[in-house]
Amino acid sequence: MVVLAAGLGRRMRSARAKVLHEVAGRPMVLHVLEAAAKLDPSRSLVVVGHQADDVSEAVGDRAGCVLQAEQLGTGHALSMTRAALRGFKGDLLVLAGDVPLVRTATLKRLLAKHRRTAASVTVLTTVVDDPAGYGRIVRDDDGGGLRIAEDADASTAEKRIDEINSAIYCFDARFLFRALSRLGSDNAQDEYYLTDVVEMASRRSAAATVVAADETEVLGVDSRAALASAEALMQERLISGWMDKGVTFVDPASVHLSVDTTIGRDTVIGPQVKLDGATRIGRRCAIDGACHLSETTVGDGTRVRWGVVADHASVGNDVSLGPYAHLRPAAELADEVHIGNFVEVKKSRIGKGSKANHLSYIGDAEVGEAVNIGAGTITCNYDGFDKHRTVIGDRVQIGSDTQLVAPVEIGADSYIAAGSTVSSDVEPGALAFNDKKQRTRKNWVKNFRKRQSKPRRGDKGS
Ligand code: UD1
Repeated sequence: MVVLAAGLGRRMRSARAKVLHEVAGRPMVLHVLEAAAKLDPSRSLVVVGHQADDVSEAVGDRAGCVLQAEQLGTGHALSMTRAALRGFKGDLLVLAGDVPLVRTATLKRLLAKHRRTAASVTVLTTVVDDPAGYGRIVRDDDGGGLRIAEDADASTAEKRIDEINSAIYCFDARFLFRALSRLGSDNAQDEYYLTDVVEMASRRSAAATVVAADETEVLGVDSRAALASAEALMQERLISGWMDKGVTFVDPASVHLSVDTTIGRDTVIGPQVKLDGATRIGRRCAIDGACHLSETTVGDGTRVRWGVVADHASVGNDVSLGPYAHLRPAAELADEVHIGNFVEVKKSRIGKGSKANHLSYIGDAEVGEAVNIGAGTITCNYDGFDKHRTVIGDRVQIGSDTQLVAPVEIGADSYIAAGSTVSSDVEPGALAFNDKKQRTRKNWVKNFRKRQSKPRRGDKGS
């Protein structure tokens, strides 16, 4: 199997190679590789050119990469694999790196027809409403001859043909490499067109086609508009897949998923939810809405209220989060934890059943079980040079408006009085408080108002 991915994609108007643009959080070239990999090919190659290093890095160990240093056309690109495929005699599936929606089932159909008809080339085609930009499938009146007329070369009559080339083919490898060495570039774009190989095969009555029933599968992405269409189609596909597995979406059109995201049965996803990367949502969860969870794991039965943002965090079962909570990397919440409004947690472990319900910052902390963290509690973790840890034992009660100046350790079962600044360790079971004396002045308000209402020097009065 070969994926052609060397082009820049001028119409994307991007500094980034076209095949690296993402659909549902994954570079287009990886979607293509994944669909073909399910056929278990004996060899997988990607032809790279523009930003070859970046594309090769994205491909990783999924396939070998072959360089096309100069982009002289799709036929030229495929001929770059000649050395790597020397001695290969089987069926060669060729795909374009910018056709991210193709399904494995369709590739299977292509391969099956290719084998059944013993063709030298089988082309995956489809019928579209607007064929502009695509190569048109030109068939002789008697149905025998087959060739592909590129948009730039097509006659007015050919431009009206609505059956187009998907740029996905199956070739007999030995025929292919013989044909590639005979390709010329005498066309409107001075390129070596892979599509010309189809006419060569047809002359020997050895070209076949398979028509993809779902035209969206072979959408070639060559502009930002096409990228947006591919994204919308992929989202529809992902969301209906999760619906089939028992997930409710209150407003599916406003939800955005990544291909790597998983969602458990009987979970309800509200409006404006974005789940990125390998985010895993458990069963029976409710994500109320306007949430962005990235690379985050959520257990079963957890409620994520409106406005929660989480990145590389881990959340247990039956947790209550938000509204408006922020979990930053390495926030780990055990089961039954409550993190409420305007609470930020970073690089901290919060033990089972502990609560921080209002207006707090918990960073670089180890919080035990059944701890109550009062409103406005702040871990002062940074001294301008280093980050320091705060350790809070089980069942500790921390009063509101407390600053815990790290490094500091609060022993189990202790109490911290409201409004305390704690900068030294507290023994288990102790009460810590700051000696701030309260003073009260009787009738102070009445006297103050009287003073204020007297005309002052310079006042003009009304
Ligand atoms: C190609 C087909 C066209 C088809 C369309 C479907 C040719 C000549 N035309 O046209 O019939 O309808 O795809 O989307 O094949 N590439 C290289 N090296 C090159 C040129 C291209 O690797 O020198 C790669 C690109 O990265 C891309 C793919 O081949 O992934 C298709 O190339 P592109 O230039 O986009 O072809 P189209 O003009 O769209």
